[in-house]
Amino acid sequence: MKNVVELIPGSLKAYVPQSVKDFVMKPFRSQIQKDIEGFKKDGTRFTPYLADFPPMVMIDTTTRCNLACAHCPNSILSKDPDFLGDMDRELYFKIIDEIAMEAPNTLVRPFDGGEPLMRRDIASLIEYAKRKGIRRISINTNGILLTKKRRQELIKSGLDHIEVSIDAATPQTYLEIRRSPLFERTVENTLAYIEESKTYNPNSTVTVSFVLQKDNRHECKAFKQFWNGKADQVNIRRYHQHGNLVDNHGHFQKRHYRFRHPCPYLWDRMIIYHDGRIRFCEFDWKAEHSIGDVQSQTIEEVWHGELYRELRQQHIKGILSHPFCKSCVDWREVKWPGI
Ligand SMILES: C[S@@+](CC[C@H](N)C(=O)[O-])C[C@H]1O[C@@H](n2cnc3c(N)ncnc32)[C@H](O)[C@@H]1O
Ligand code: SF4
Repeated sequence: MKNVVELIPGSLKAYVPQSVKDFVMKPFRSQIQKDIEGFKKDGTRFTPYLADFPPMVMIDTTTRCNLACAHCPNSILSKDPDFLGDMDRELYFKIIDEIAMEAPNTLVRPFDGGEPLMRRDIASLIEYAKRKGIRRISINTNGILLTKKRRQELIKSGLDHIEVSIDAATPQTYLEIRRSPLFERTVENTLAYIEESKTYNPNSTVTVSFVLQKDNRHECKAFKQFWNGKADQVNIRRYHQHGNLVDNHGHFQKRHYRFRHPCPYLWDRMIIYHDGRIRFCEFDWKAEHSIGDVQSQTIEEVWHGELYRELRQQHIKGILSHPFCKSCVDWREVKWPGI
């Protein structure tokens, strides 16, 4: 079995339960530290630990969505018919079979740029992964379609973790951010899921999330107060611009990093687009900089392949020649645990 750093559903930021330090780094002094960006505050660079297999695999089972949230690139990209698509079940099974065989501890998230419940068969896809031995499987949803029937299907599928993205504490703000009048329905669906999952699948966990931005920041406290003690985790997410696809409504936030550091995405995840192309970055929504293809390659092959190796080296050295990384506007917000 491959060595995989474990991710905990319900706390995606906590890569290693015992010691974050063991996972992340072996700090070292760079010869050329004065000349290049990319140091921690004390001037050291770091080499992240590379797991044998991606600790997290995100699978874009569908890019379709039933909402058009103000902060999300989905509705902009959906105008392009090339963006919209569902992954074939056979391709999904191939991906799951490899993960189950090589690294069942890998956290599998069978969604990315769309709404997973738009797929009528999402519960059966999750059930397949659980049956094959995948230990942790987690989805994010907007919760609109989390009806009693769908809740039962998901709970029975063995889903380990669900994150319901709500972003508001009132119907008005929900309408503004999620552009939907269905605030109450989403809250009721989420509360019902929490109760029903505790009865039928007590080990599963529920997160509610709030992407902090200028039009909802006044409700962040009320959101936390309402959900603390009801959900297992309240996740206040940092706003990303997704490679400039959306405006920077999170500009009031304090930046995490001053210096350019190696990007965690290259070490902590792999994202598989609905047609099988592999993305190294969350923000490359249309897989325009794909780094491989699971139709013809294995996950492991790509993870240790030349393209990934070269990119990681660029990030470790702080000399970024890849055009997508060079022009990234979000690197200050993409956080390593503990740094
Ligand atoms: C793209 S959505 C897909 C899953 C599902 N449709 C949902 O809303 O949860 C995945 C997550 O990204 C978050 N998200 C969307 N736009 C964002 C942005 N600009 N910055 C940070 N998070 C964002 C959503 O709130 C959601 O939690
Ligand atoms: S955040 Fe989720 S629900 Fe909102 S538009 Fe994006 S994919 Fe759809």
